[in-house]
Amino acid sequence: MGKVYVFDHPLIQHKVSLMRQTSTNVKEFRELAKEISTLMGFEATRDLPLKEVEIETPICSAKVKMLDGEDIAIVPILRAGLGFVDGMLALYPNAKVGHIGLYRDPETHKPVEYYCKLPVDIDKRKIFVVDPMLATGGSAVAAIDFIKQRGGKDIVFMCLLAAPEGLDVLQAAHPDIDIYIAAKDSHLNENAYIVPGLGDAGDRLYGTR
Ligand code: PRP
Ligand code: URA
Repeated sequence: MGKVYVFDHPLIQHKVSLMRQTSTNVKEFRELAKEISTLMGFEATRDLPLKEVEIETPICSAKVKMLDGEDIAIVPILRAGLGFVDGMLALYPNAKVGHIGLYRDPETHKPVEYYCKLPVDIDKRKIFVVDPMLATGGSAVAAIDFIKQRGGKDIVFMCLLAAPEGLDVLQAAHPDIDIYIAAKDSHLNENAYIVPGLGDAGDRLYGTR
């Protein structure tokens, strides 16, 4: 079973609370999403392998640790997942970026696919699927289904807010993946929105409502 990591770091909790506030504007919301994704990415990349290399410092030769060239892919679920990409790229600028386009049907709340473009060597990469919201879990499950169908194996899911309902659905469908959550919320409302949540993440990120 993959692990579920809920962040208790005060900086992350503070920034998530700011994102929840109705008074936070689009610019601030975007900046906070970027900052939080960097902070979360720092922890989510903790297991990346290191190798020992010999280098010259101005003082002497030294054996030091460097990343062992593990190839990474960041895969945002469109639209709102795009808000996590720059923060992750700040940590790992050489990562390749795939995109999965899904939206929730407003009536059924089921995900509808409209786009999928992944790095050709996705099967060889450690994959960070990013989306701010894990509500019913339908979008995350569908996105990870696509990735596995295309050969992806080593998959991590990162989100800002998770509802317990969505977390159960994601773990049941994909028990092998690790899940990183900035905050676990109370429940879903009758429209399958996260409570207390932050509203519609895509609309808040792009100012579309
Ligand atoms: C939001 C969010 C997730 C999805 C979560 O996207 O970014 O992708 O809902 O809900 P679920 O867990 O119930 O599937 P949305 O469908 O609103 O699309 P958008 O990002 O394009 O606005
Ligand atoms: N999608 C969102 O953007 N917000 C929610 O609360 C649920 C799904």
